[in-house]
Amino acid sequence: MSDAIVVEGLVKRFGATTALDGVHLTVAEGSVLGLLGPNGAGKTTVVRILTTLLRADAGRVRVAGLDVVEDADAVRASIGLTGQYAAVDEYLTGLENLEMVGRLYRLGKREARARAGELLERFDLTGAADRPAKTYSGGMRRRLDIAASLIARPRILFLDEPTTGLDPRSRLGMWEFIADLADGGTTILLTTQYLEEADRLADRMVVIDRGRVIARGTADDLKAQVGGQRLEFTVTTAAVLPDVLERLRGMAVDEPQVDEQARRLSLPVSGGAEILAEALQRLDGFTPDILDVGLRRPDLDDVFLALTGHAAEETAGDDDRPAQPAATGGMA
Ligand SMILES: Nc1ncnc2c1ncn2[C@@H]1O[C@H](COP(=O)(O)OP(=O)(O)O)[C@@H](O)[C@H]1O
Ligand SMILES: [Mg+2]
Repeated sequence: MSDAIVVEGLVKRFGATTALDGVHLTVAEGSVLGLLGPNGAGKTTVVRILTTLLRADAGRVRVAGLDVVEDADAVRASIGLTGQYAAVDEYLTGLENLEMVGRLYRLGKREARARAGELLERFDLTGAADRPAKTYSGGMRRRLDIAASLIARPRILFLDEPTTGLDPRSRLGMWEFIADLADGGTTILLTTQYLEEADRLADRMVVIDRGRVIARGTADDLKAQVGGQRLEFTVTTAAVLPDVLERLRGMAVDEPQVDEQARRLSLPVSGGAEILAEALQRLDGFTPDILDVGLRRPDLDDVFLALTGHAAEETAGDDDRPAQPAATGGMA
């Protein structure tokens, strides 16, 4: 299988900030790559460079076999982009928004209308087609935004945090749409701060932090890097955590994590279910304080914490600001 996207040694500086510091990645044709990282990691900068909206200071990018600098127009013709900040026109209706984008892509009037209708249907927006976009909910807007990026039937789609800010139900719906597109053979590069999202949708993942790739592979590869199982306890009051930890410390094969706010203790352990029995034995006398006990495999959140030293969503919203919103329709 050939690569739809090849990125080599990408460097981008904004004044004194090095946003990207030598990023390499590839995305196989027809696959989904999850580009993961906390706020400020450089995700949007990667997407903007790959979609020709921004020039790198160093490195090379080929999208659909074309150089993003030398063949920018041809690249634009073969991609779709949904920016992190929805770029729909508030005052136009859903239908008008999509028609306008179709016209920007040089579809004829009738064709633009037909394609708009088709996409409204697909994204469950037919009932809202004639309402101004400003009356749409967050989930509906995101759907309209993605629909707009699909007008020209791109083979390669960039989705920059497609579900950030959506409620859980809209997020699930969006995951279904994205999975459908992937099943249909569209190559997708998706950025996200939500590890569950990447776990669900992405074939492979690249984790970046401060402009550098710190891990890559399938979800299983990444989980294997962290390894082992975790024994987790939730207690009734944070005050007992130190005592509980003291009794269990001998069982941990790596540094235990204590979350006082959640009143939770997580110990990396090795072994099977007998571990649970041993733990409860060691906790004899404390059992009234234990609300919940469990043994589980590491999830991507553990991976992220192990790799970066902080939780993926920890800084969400902190320095989130539009770095020039990418106009979905303004690319043609
Ligand atoms: N247009 C810009 N001007 C100055 N700094 C920027 C600009 N765009 C991004 N940055 C900085 O580059 C870094 C990476 O940003 P970004 O790619 O938006 O990260 P992410 O999308 O992962 O949150 C951040 O430190 C951010 O503040
Ligand atoms: Mg971003």
